[in-house]
Amino acid sequence: MKKVAVFTSGGDSPGMNAGIRAAVRGAIYYGVEIVGIVRGYKGMIDGDFIPLESRSVSNIIQLGGTILKSARSEEFRTAVGRKKAAEQLKANGIEGLVAIGGNGTFTGAEIFYREFGIPTIGMPGTIDNDLYGTDYTIGFDTAVNTALDAVDKIRDTADSHDRVFFIEVMGRDSGYIAIQTGIGGGAEMVMVPENPDSIESVIETLHTDRSRSKTSAIIIVAEGEELGNAHYISVKAKEKLPHMDIRVTTLGHVQRGGGPTAADRILGSRLGLGAVEALLEGKTNMMVGIVNDQLTYTPFHDAINKKKPFNKDLIKMVNILSI
Ligand code: F6P
Repeated sequence: MKKVAVFTSGGDSPGMNAGIRAAVRGAIYYGVEIVGIVRGYKGMIDGDFIPLESRSVSNIIQLGGTILKSARSEEFRTAVGRKKAAEQLKANGIEGLVAIGGNGTFTGAEIFYREFGIPTIGMPGTIDNDLYGTDYTIGFDTAVNTALDAVDKIRDTADSHDRVFFIEVMGRDSGYIAIQTGIGGGAEMVMVPENPDSIESVIETLHTDRSRSKTSAIIIVAEGEELGNAHYISVKAKEKLPHMDIRVTTLGHVQRGGGPTAADRILGSRLGLGAVEALLEGKTNMMVGIVNDQLTYTPFHDAINKKKPFNKDLIKMVNILSI
């Protein structure tokens, strides 16, 4: 393989730049030319490629976002769009791809590989941590720390006013950010899609808290919670507990920004080099991850479709530790 490309796609996540840097320098170390594709699959279709040298990725390891920009491409979902993308890669002599992203990115990569056979290795880049085949995804640790910082601040005002706060954190279909934020932030309750919840259990938790002389409460709600969003749950709780002063905060995209933590810089660096090495060894159609501190390679199909185990003991732990 003489020339490869790296791109970021889907929601950006802190640590993607560390991953890009590692892929670029890894490729150069092994004597392979590398280009960046701007705006993910959209840039692949448009032929938006930029040459990358060692110095192109200087001073980016500490930056949030992605220097290659990101997008969610509707055109790549079509056979016509993917054909255009394959033609652009061929015309530019690109023989292998490093794709940094989440579920949607790997779904596209798998179809593209089946259709055109261009070797591709994925790096898990999403704050949601919802990919099977890696203990952590790039950006998750930073997002949890950002959410925790917000929870600490909200706790000050919740305590001053004796209020109940429902705080919604990201996680489209998963509760990994919610559970870690809940544990780290000392929440009274954590609501996640992996565990069935009810309004009754919310009411019970708040009643019990008051009987324990607690005057404020923090309830963390994952974006993907099946009962509804934090606003909906707060309205339902207020109907049953009209005497309680209830507020809602949705943290939203603030969780996706900011400089990556040490953990995310190190993860991005290890996975970036691992991705390039895998491509050069002839691996393809797989996601590189780290499980128990070892680099592992999981077929895209499993990374997307297998459910990463969610430790429900942690939900119980939140309840025990909030007595
Ligand atoms: O996948 C990461 C994520 O931040 C999810 O938690 C969230 O549901 C989604 O992206 C938001 O996407 P967008 O930035 O397109 O609104």
